[in-house]
Amino acid sequence: MATPPSFPFARPKTWEPPTEYARLRATEPVSRVELWDGTHPWLIVKHKDVTSVLIDERLSKERTRPGFPEMSAGGREAAKNKPTFVDMDPPQHMQQRSMVESLFAYEAISKLRPHIQKTVDTLLDAMIKGGCEKPVDLIEKFALPVPSYIIYGILGVPFEDLEFLTQQNAIRSNGSATATEASNANTTLLDYIGKLVDKRTQQPEEDLISRLVTEQVKPGNIDRSDAVQIAFLMLVAGNATMVNMINLGVVTLLQHPSQLSKLKQNPTLSPAFVSELCRYHTGSAMATRRVAKVDITLAGHDIRAGDGIIAATQSASRDEDIFSDPEIFDLMRFVPKEEGGRGEDWFKAMGYGWGEHRCVAEPLARAELEVVFATLFQRLPDLKLAVPFEEIKWTPPKKDVGITELPVNW
Ligand code: HEM
Repeated sequence: MATPPSFPFARPKTWEPPTEYARLRATEPVSRVELWDGTHPWLIVKHKDVTSVLIDERLSKERTRPGFPEMSAGGREAAKNKPTFVDMDPPQHMQQRSMVESLFAYEAISKLRPHIQKTVDTLLDAMIKGGCEKPVDLIEKFALPVPSYIIYGILGVPFEDLEFLTQQNAIRSNGSATATEASNANTTLLDYIGKLVDKRTQQPEEDLISRLVTEQVKPGNIDRSDAVQIAFLMLVAGNATMVNMINLGVVTLLQHPSQLSKLKQNPTLSPAFVSELCRYHTGSAMATRRVAKVDITLAGHDIRAGDGIIAATQSASRDEDIFSDPEIFDLMRFVPKEEGGRGEDWFKAMGYGWGEHRCVAEPLARAELEVVFATLFQRLPDLKLAVPFEEIKWTPPKKDVGITELPVNW
């Protein structure tokens, strides 16, 4: 057998997904790839196969199982840590996930919208009236604090600690810190959460950590270290992705001026815009990996117990069998036909995954993005990039698509 192509594939430039995906969708929807450690997991690229992988209980998310596809030596080390529910199978997965799920349900999040709006408004006020020197790095002033402040509010982090923790979280995940700096920041955050768990054990308040302590730790369902880990997971799981999706949304609109002016005229198009944004750009493309627990057949291929599987959601979101003109960014894609849109089904876009592990915080992430994009260009109608599109600092081509610095003017 010829050596399979090396994976992850690289983006050819800027935000364009790797070209290999389109080729494989047309010619070899189930194929082998080679990872950094010489292993050869299966790569699944068609929407119908990706969804079938992500609901198949014969496949596991447990990273301790031999054959689970790890993307780096660091990942293999991290796999030895005590798992959180993101890396668990049924029934433990739902037991833990359900401890936080109701806080992120659409109903709970709709009550949080005024708080999200206030956070966005306050940060924009500070940017606009604060006399910042231009150009401003939109990440530092806006895209990073929005999701950080909101998740800290949900967890119950006191306001005075927000700035420090946001800084630590940025060091931990922005890729430009050294390994030691990133690991120190990780430890700082974990210690901080540990102390907060102890505080809320003494004196519960109305927040996620207090709920975990009161409803789960005290009755003996989980121990203190589980509570710390679950709270930490909620703090870090979506942060970098949220920041990137805000950045990508801003740049995508600036690159599509006629769609931007439609959104400016009608901010109620924001939810449709966000759905298309999360189809067009896949902020978290490597989370959907599995390992086979038993032999299975997938699209005519025999997959053996212990084989790794990578379900390429990034490719599935551009599958021409599901989405018309998938390479085109269309704000009207998910708007109903009777309202002049394409009437496609937003739920099929794979940005948040699929099946039981589909992003538990999707309603929150959507609400934040919807508020951001209904507000940002109303408050800053002349917002523009301070560097040419090609000179934007993108994440490395084999990493999740993202932007590491976003200088803007208005
Ligand atoms: C636009 C922003 C976001 C995107 C694109 C995103 C994407 C994803 C994806 C693709 C998965 C599926 C992983 C899989 O199948 O294994 C996932 C799971 C998860 N996400 Fe998000 N996410 C976002 C925001 C967030 C936020 C803000 C949080 C936390 C507050 C969060 C917490 C989680 C957790 C805990 C899981 C694991 C769910 C489980 O295994 O049951 N995400 N996310």
